[in-house]
Amino acid sequence: MNYRYIDHQSLSGAIGAEVRGVDLANASDDVWDEIHALYLDRIALFFPGQTLNPTALADVVSHFGPVGKYPFSPGLPEEPRVFSLVKEPHETKNFGEGWHTDTTYADIPPKATALYSVETPPAGGDTLFANMYLAYDALSDGLKETLAGLRAVHSTAVRRGGGRAVGNSYQSVKLSGHDKAVLEAAHPLVRTHPINGRKVIYVDALHTARIEGWTDAESQPLLEYLYQCQQRPEFTCRYQWEPNVLAVWDNCAAQHLAVNDYHGHRREMYRLSITGERPV
Ligand code: SIN
Repeated sequence: MNYRYIDHQSLSGAIGAEVRGVDLANASDDVWDEIHALYLDRIALFFPGQTLNPTALADVVSHFGPVGKYPFSPGLPEEPRVFSLVKEPHETKNFGEGWHTDTTYADIPPKATALYSVETPPAGGDTLFANMYLAYDALSDGLKETLAGLRAVHSTAVRRGGGRAVGNSYQSVKLSGHDKAVLEAAHPLVRTHPINGRKVIYVDALHTARIEGWTDAESQPLLEYLYQCQQRPEFTCRYQWEPNVLAVWDNCAAQHLAVNDYHGHRREMYRLSITGERPV
């Protein structure tokens, strides 16, 4: 597509684009039409230079769909649609430090997530993203046939790599209810994107418990193999934050990981969930 209204730069061959020179709070319909086309193509978009208070942020993000809520946070007192992710200098645990898709343990996971950088460390604290269409396309026809029709069970009780079940050890991220209720949902292991019909591998190391109808011992070797396929470097990009960047990514087509390499420094992000549809 020939973009007339936005200036963008791809972050890698696989995924991600940075869009410069756009004031999202005052963008025209023509600009939004191009942003939506680029989003479908690049999966994760980054908009530097956006000065937004929490309510203005939620209003901008609602251009991608209705802004819902993260199930384990009441949100900010002044704007419940916005959830603050903070890591203080004395803390070691980081929210989202493992490859994952957001909130797959819900029956209807968010279709997209937005992250806005409030305060960033002098170096580190980057976020990695991976393209799940490419991960699926690279599988052999034989494995694709084996996976067709399988469903995977996603759960908050998965303890791998800092999943929700160990979430109590966050100090500055205010979670509530995550240690009491176990949320669990089964979704197709190969998911079809609701807009372009492309297929993705829809399991992740933080939330997937097992393949439905299989034992844990039977499930884990295949799941581990799929995680390796999803995390191949050539399917990824890395975003280095500065303050006032808005990122939005497609939770069907992308996985992401928050790199925990900035101990001794503060990082604060605002996070918003965009309501989605039941995975098929
Ligand atoms: C997340 O996993 O939602 C947070 C990602 C980040 O803080 O970079």
